[in-house]
Amino acid sequence: MYSEKVMDHFTNPRNVGEIEDASGIGEVGNAKCGDIMRMYLKIEDGKIEDVKFKTFGCGSAIASSSMATELIKGKTIEEAMALTNKAVAEALDGLPPVKMHCSVLAEQAIKAALLDYSKKHNVVIPGLDEFNFEEEDHHSVTED
Ligand code: FES
Repeated sequence: MYSEKVMDHFTNPRNVGEIEDASGIGEVGNAKCGDIMRMYLKIEDGKIEDVKFKTFGCGSAIASSSMATELIKGKTIEEAMALTNKAVAEALDGLPPVKMHCSVLAEQAIKAALLDYSKKHNVVIPGLDEFNFEEEDHHSVTED
């Protein structure tokens, strides 16, 4: 049911923890399963210098957040903005359809942290305004 990569990132998650002087912190949750993900970003000169996460949730959410941090570490804000939940799931060699919403949390947590950063530092990040955390329909993602 789960790929080796999912199992690897679940049992040995990368970048777990907090960043004390984070540039931006994002926390998102899924009301249906109750899982919560918190993402910490350290941004310098438009680059994600460091990223850490804490996920109180299922194995797929832990694997998704671990993979997502790997995918944006060292990248630009624009590249982090472009990371989709599908790209996270693909990098994990797939997630079961009922677990796709776990990868949505990872995408949302990054965008929530970028939003926090943009507000705290008065930086405009194109595309963030259109992103609506409330209205994201997790289930439409699983039906693709
Ligand atoms: Fe909800 Fe995984 S079951 S995040």
